[in-house]
Amino acid sequence: MQVVATGVELRELLMEYGGVAGRRVLVPTMGALHHGHLELVKRAREAAGPAGSVVVSIFVNPIQFDRSDDLEAYPRPMASDLEQCRAAGVDVVFAPDAGAMYFSDRSVTVSESLLSRGLCGAARPGHFDGVCTVVLKLFLLSGCHAAVFGEKDFQQLAVIRRMVRDLDVPVEILACPTVRESDGLAMSSRNARLTDKQRADAPRIHRALTDAMKLGGVADILAAARAGIEASPLARIDYLELVDAETLQPVTTLTRPAVLAAAVFYGDVRLIDHVAVK
Ligand code: PAJ
Repeated sequence: MQVVATGVELRELLMEYGGVAGRRVLVPTMGALHHGHLELVKRAREAAGPAGSVVVSIFVNPIQFDRSDDLEAYPRPMASDLEQCRAAGVDVVFAPDAGAMYFSDRSVTVSESLLSRGLCGAARPGHFDGVCTVVLKLFLLSGCHAAVFGEKDFQQLAVIRRMVRDLDVPVEILACPTVRESDGLAMSSRNARLTDKQRADAPRIHRALTDAMKLGGVADILAAARAGIEASPLARIDYLELVDAETLQPVTTLTRPAVLAAAVFYGDVRLIDHVAVK
């Protein structure tokens, strides 16, 4: 496994892989890797095939954070991340610092203006512009044929698919289902920042969403999910919405596939989860 820290080094290294027949598959991450990320790597390995290569990027992207305390508190266990990548059979890790990714006077941003308006986009202004910009840069730097994303961040996945569609980006987007702890909590790098009490309480998010979606009407589903989460004094809802699975716009009736999505604060740690409503 090779580890590179600049775009120039990455390009040079990948020239060596250039003649290989197989596909190059990218897994973009912000590090603090867990089993969820490793499932994406597995999917990438399958998609790349024996002759292909798997590139994992590890970059805590400053321009997608709306709060500097959140950016600073983001875990960065680089040594163990590299160890996990090595064990998972990753070929190349791209781990730049912010100076290697962005010019101080950068003035071009990729902006998605429809799907990114609600949910996490409304709660975190500029977040998805930051995601689109870094993901497009990572696609270009790695020259990947395909890239793997998690359904856990379903709005991110929808926004990236839209960017690829609208800008004719020649990268196939592959999706992996959400990987959960045995008690149902969606795996997240942020879970490591929960206190023991918060960690024990947090599975209620998925439980509340799953129980609520069994109900019939929109108002009942939202009320039940809210009650299930707010039953805990530790949990504070940032948003709770029932949206159309395709447009991500809030729905008032259940005639098409929908998604019940929540962002919940435990202290200053913000967790997201969602379930599909058929
Ligand atoms: P990060 O939060 O590190 O997630 C990297 C990828 O892992 C994303 O595609 C995310 O959806 C996926 N992922 C995280 N937890 C998962 C879980 N429990 N199950 C399945 N997949 C999971 O998302 C980002 O980084 C950044 O926004 C990034 C795309 C790298 C751009 O900076």
